[in-house]
Amino acid sequence: MPARIIGTGSCLPIRKVDNKELEKWTDTTDEWIRSRTGIESRYIAVEETTTSMAVEAARRAVENAEVRAEEIDLIIVGTVSGDMCFPSTACQIQNAISAVNATAFDLNAACAGFLFGLAIAESYMACGRAETALVIGAETLSKMMDWNDRSTCVLFGDGAGAAVVRKEEVGILSMVQGTDGGGGDALWCHNRPVNNPLVKKEWKPEYARMNGQAVFRFAVKTVPGAVMQALDQAGISAGQIKYFLLHQANIRIIEAVAKKLGQPAEKFPTNLQECGNISAGSVPLLMDMLNRQGRLQKGDKIVLAGFGAGLTWGAAVLTW
Ligand code: ACO
Repeated sequence: MPARIIGTGSCLPIRKVDNKELEKWTDTTDEWIRSRTGIESRYIAVEETTTSMAVEAARRAVENAEVRAEEIDLIIVGTVSGDMCFPSTACQIQNAISAVNATAFDLNAACAGFLFGLAIAESYMACGRAETALVIGAETLSKMMDWNDRSTCVLFGDGAGAAVVRKEEVGILSMVQGTDGGGGDALWCHNRPVNNPLVKKEWKPEYARMNGQAVFRFAVKTVPGAVMQALDQAGISAGQIKYFLLHQANIRIIEAVAKKLGQPAEKFPTNLQECGNISAGSVPLLMDMLNRQGRLQKGDKIVLAGFGAGLTWGAAVLTW
């Protein structure tokens, strides 16, 4: 497949909120959150927005890739929490970083948004429509939480991750995506209802809701299958993979996937303890952290996998 990740960047809000602080905000305990999810803290936006974090992550990825903004011809942002209905977050980034030659748009595949964006970028490259793309996952989920709903608000955090993808022969080896719209009632957030002179409704903002156990069952069943399918397509065994970078939803999901794949926990780096679940931002943010720690070497084989509302899922096998 003619696409390779050549640079990464990320951005988190300044304000960190640990579980002890959350105990003051909602009816929960540090012990419950840690034991059920592995999460110890998360970053919550105060001055930051989805766009501001995405722009910063994009700038850092462009710098890391050593490309000029004018070389970027495609910007895709996976997000469910853009600052504006329109223009898209991607258009705002295009303007902020002066990527004057880029076509830019957002996509909504929830926590699989980065994987879906990567697949679109690769497809653009395969058919000759792009040479250099920025693929970003960025979220401010804190504004979509009902802070009185302890079953959701303790799980999520804010942040953004970005990757520069370039048309090159060696890089992405395989990608799979899938959707089960029938599982849409596992995790949802309503937008504005129909409201106009013909239909007058009192309207108040809606918040994210979740059937946690349904999401858990979906994740532990679907993710190992998607990863194995991607490995098969790449002609690579799980044993040859250095790291599996999974969406950072819950440590128990990651442990279950590792077990099903028969791979040791050390191959599954995590940052959910510190950052919580950042939806589309989680996989690129984790990838950037590893990249900046020098843990990704040229030639390493890695797997990326995302899964979330929709239901949606995606997996990719890459040579770094
Ligand atoms: N603090 C204290 N108690 C809580 C909290 C909380 N934050 N949340 C729920 N509880 C209580 C419930 O009220 C319930 O109490 P009850 O027995 O008195 O009624 C009890 O804990 C058990 O609630 P469950 O919802 O059954 O808890 P469960 O064991 O299923 O754990 C969890 C919930 C952690 C969300 C689990 O279902 C899970 O891991 N699901 C995966 C979903 C996930 O990770 N989603 C992330 C977003 S989706 C995505 O990114 C793809």
